[in-house]
Amino acid sequence: MHNKQMKAPIFDALKKYISENTIPFHVPGHKQGRGLPEFVDFVGENVLKMDLTCLPDTDNICNAVGAIKEAENLAAELYGADKAFFLVNGTTSGIQSMIMSVCQPGDKIILPRNVHKSALGGLILSGAVPIYIEPELDPEFGITMCLTPDSVENTLRRNPDAKAVFLVYPIYYGLVSDLEKICQVAHEYGVPVIVDEAHGAHLKFHQDLPISSIEAGADLVASSTHKLLGSMSQTSILLVREGLISASKVKAVMNLTQTTSPSYVLLTSLDLARRQMALKGSDLMSTVLELSWWVRREINQMRGYKLLGENVVGKYGCVGFDPAKITVNVAELGMSGYQMESLLRSRYQIQVELSDLYNVIFLITVGDNRGTIGKLLTALKEISLNSALDKVIRYLPPLPKIPEVEISPRDAFYHKTKAVPFEESAGEISAEGIMAYPPGIPLICPGEKITQEIVDYVRILKQENAELQGTEDHSLETIKVIVIHLAWVNNEEIADVG
Ligand SMILES: Cc1ncc(COP(=O)(O)O)c(C=O)c1O
Repeated sequence: MHNKQMKAPIFDALKKYISENTIPFHVPGHKQGRGLPEFVDFVGENVLKMDLTCLPDTDNICNAVGAIKEAENLAAELYGADKAFFLVNGTTSGIQSMIMSVCQPGDKIILPRNVHKSALGGLILSGAVPIYIEPELDPEFGITMCLTPDSVENTLRRNPDAKAVFLVYPIYYGLVSDLEKICQVAHEYGVPVIVDEAHGAHLKFHQDLPISSIEAGADLVASSTHKLLGSMSQTSILLVREGLISASKVKAVMNLTQTTSPSYVLLTSLDLARRQMALKGSDLMSTVLELSWWVRREINQMRGYKLLGENVVGKYGCVGFDPAKITVNVAELGMSGYQMESLLRSRYQIQVELSDLYNVIFLITVGDNRGTIGKLLTALKEISLNSALDKVIRYLPPLPKIPEVEISPRDAFYHKTKAVPFEESAGEISAEGIMAYPPGIPLICPGEKITQEIVDYVRILKQENAELQGTEDHSLETIKVIVIHLAWVNNEEIADVG
């Protein structure tokens, strides 16, 4: 049987070029490794030989007509999309491109508040104005959850002129919203759904996983093949369903955001990861799920751990979860997620994906086997048995209300700013964002007015040693705010932030 998916067009084009012993008078300057022998000694000859550039033989990512186009078409077919574009600048560039493809300066876009910071970059670059939906917080795990179709519909009813609904699917902790319903609702308003599928490139390949974004009806999806599949870091795919989205517009935007010198090592890993999943995806994901359920069953037997999963399905807009994202609450062992991370790293040579105040996340992928899982389980069992069950009651007060957007993130970004003591910043318009883990949500974004409630909340997070990111001053003693000019208009003093 001939199966188009057996081809790996980029890999084949590179192997052909290398086998012809062509003498390169082109970039990259290391000339297939000869210019950097120490690196070749460590990584091997072929990696450097593959590190070519856009040539007639290797195609051009900015205007693909050959091997890259063929590989992208195979990826589109595999995911059920009309078009696919390969990304080598991470899902970040995909998310920025998605927002820039649907929004012009001043256009509204509906987003959950717990977006990744790349979406904030997309808002700044596009000039779009965010309409945030606040997901609910699970008090036990201390994290913000999914979106309900009702909350999306209510927001669309109030903002029918929004240019897109943006969703994170699954969220970092592996939980999913009812994307099919959300797509139906948005499409009734003629509004496209664009999805950050950074943690869902594998969903398509097993029926026991939540439905993939394109299958659920999404219009534009950035999917991190490097996170949950086997391709190398920085690789991702942008998937397009044409209709509400124009693929040629997306392509034009990507030519603004993406490098003109893609790494062919990265592109080849993407080509091969696509072929691997096309040919063996279901079997590979069966193994991943078997290993994941084994971990879950064992952890459930151990004292002091609580797993995120079935317990939140049906709540907070969550309709399912990815069993391979193992989020474990360790609070009952009397330690924080951060402490658990460093214990696993220093004593057991195990590195977690993420830790926060209460939880650690373990990621199970096609790269795992019974050996790696066995070591993880042994370590977790030992830690559980050796810890006094001594729940440290760390509690976070209710989240502060989302502050008012005073000016767009883009206007805030380009505005004149000054640093002020954070404790005295209530009432100022922030020029920076503050991202907090937990609850994995920006407490303030550029262009929003800082409230006393936020200042008080951040003080508590600092006392709890929660991770605060996003400000130039990492200690958050100061924050950059917008300089407001006072102007006299008609004998009245007005604040001018323009
Ligand atoms: C939810 C989410 N979206 C987007 C990104 C950005 O992806 P990348 O690191 O590939 O740029 C991440 C990265 O961690 C993420 O967790």
